[in-house]
Amino acid sequence: MGDTLKTAVENRSSRPKTGLLHTLLSVPISMKIMGIGAVVAAIFGTATLYQVQRSLTRSYYLRLEETLNSSSMMMSGLVSRPIAVGDIIQLRKTLRFFRASVPDVFCVDIFDPKGDVVSRSINPKIGLDRLPPFTSSLDERPQALFLPSGELLLIKITPILQGAGGYLRIIVSDRRIRSELRRLTLNFLFTLLLCLVAGEGLALLLTHQIVHPIDRLKTAAESLREGKVEKAEVFAADEIGTLAETFNAMTETLEKRRDEILRKERDRVRLIDALVSAQEEERRRIASELHDEVGAALSALLLMIESLPSESPEIRERRTEFRKHLERSIENVRRLSFSLRPAVLDDFGLESALKRYITLLNQHSKTKFNFRFIQSASSKRPPEAVETTLYRITQEAVNNVLRHAEASSAEIMILIRKDECVLVVEDDGKGFSARKTNEVSSGIGLIGIRERAEILGGTVSVDSEVGRGTTLQVKIPLGREPEI
Ligand SMILES: Nc1ncnc2c1ncn2[C@@H]1O[C@H](COP(=O)(O)OP(=O)(O)O)[C@@H](O)[C@H]1O
Ligand SMILES: [Mg+2]
Repeated sequence: MGDTLKTAVENRSSRPKTGLLHTLLSVPISMKIMGIGAVVAAIFGTATLYQVQRSLTRSYYLRLEETLNSSSMMMSGLVSRPIAVGDIIQLRKTLRFFRASVPDVFCVDIFDPKGDVVSRSINPKIGLDRLPPFTSSLDERPQALFLPSGELLLIKITPILQGAGGYLRIIVSDRRIRSELRRLTLNFLFTLLLCLVAGEGLALLLTHQIVHPIDRLKTAAESLREGKVEKAEVFAADEIGTLAETFNAMTETLEKRRDEILRKERDRVRLIDALVSAQEEERRRIASELHDEVGAALSALLLMIESLPSESPEIRERRTEFRKHLERSIENVRRLSFSLRPAVLDDFGLESALKRYITLLNQHSKTKFNFRFIQSASSKRPPEAVETTLYRITQEAVNNVLRHAEASSAEIMILIRKDECVLVVEDDGKGFSARKTNEVSSGIGLIGIRERAEILGGTVSVDSEVGRGTTLQVKIPLGREPEI
């Protein structure tokens, strides 16, 4: 169940996600907050700049037009007297004065009624470069003319003395307006940039305040996943702080549960160890009693029967019959004693005990068992507990081969190294689905093998496939205290 859940979670998290939204959402929080700040500033800046420019442009151009209209009216009155009396000097003076006092003026011209220039005054700052030709159009609204540079000229022609004195033409330029708008835009953009830098700095500070506690929480969660219990730091009493506190409470509960499970596991292993030891001791006692007491008593009985006088053929026949019975019983007692606990295991070690066991086995079984015992030069005889465990595991594995495998042959190999013992039992039988056996365990043989190995800190692996035989491998470390 746990494994299924874990696999489902892994599958879900490893499923590749695509799409722009997912890519955008996957960038770090700091970039998200700073990005939002930059986008808001850009939208706000552009919209405000657009609005301000629009309304300022409108009012500047209206003012320029008003200036042109009122100047034209005023100047046509001012120049009518000098023109009427032919006072050219006064006329020029008036024009110069006008041009100097109204800076937007591009050019002021006086034309005679035929359209020839009488006087001309040009703002030296603006220049004479593209002066439009005179037309005596007397529109109410000024004419507009765009120069190739983009500059806009507004032209107003006003008759002097109802046209009898000629015409006054005033041309104003929007050059000042444009430079003013440019200056304003630059100032605005500079201010916006300053706000953006300050805003992004604050956003960075804020994200650090948010991300740092989350990072610490993540580190604590990762440690927990690796089995190390580490408290998460609580930085503030905000949502993240509450999360950290909940995490710490969860860690405490987990720690308690883990300790409880460990304690129970230790108790369980200790109990199994005690049971197994008691069982071995009991078997050893019964085996030696059977061998030494019952076996010896039966042998003595045999000797006694042999020494009985045998005059009559009837008694001789009965004696032969008794002897046969007794010999079979002695053999049975020996076999029983051996199967309970072979004395050779205690006296001569694992190799001799297993050799004997397998020789006896091969006398009756259809499966041919081969046994190999390899001991490296640097190794010593394993401790008694390890030898007993390996002997019993071999017995259970052999029983499984006999009962389930229908194998023609099986290899049993024991390897004793300096730091570990390895047992491999491999058969060429029908095999089984290891997963199915894990789900609904039909017997306790394999469980017993695992339990026995784990008491000594060992590991067990069963490799089997239907139709391809079974391999059982057990590894038991040497030179370590048992895990109880
Ligand atoms: N060597 C083997 N060949 C085929 N099947 C096996 C072998 N060892 C174990 N099994 C299968 O694994 C199951 C569990 O084995 P085990 O735990 O020893 O229980 P039991 O032997 O009491 O059925 C067996 O019932 C059998 O189906
Ligand atoms: Mg079994």
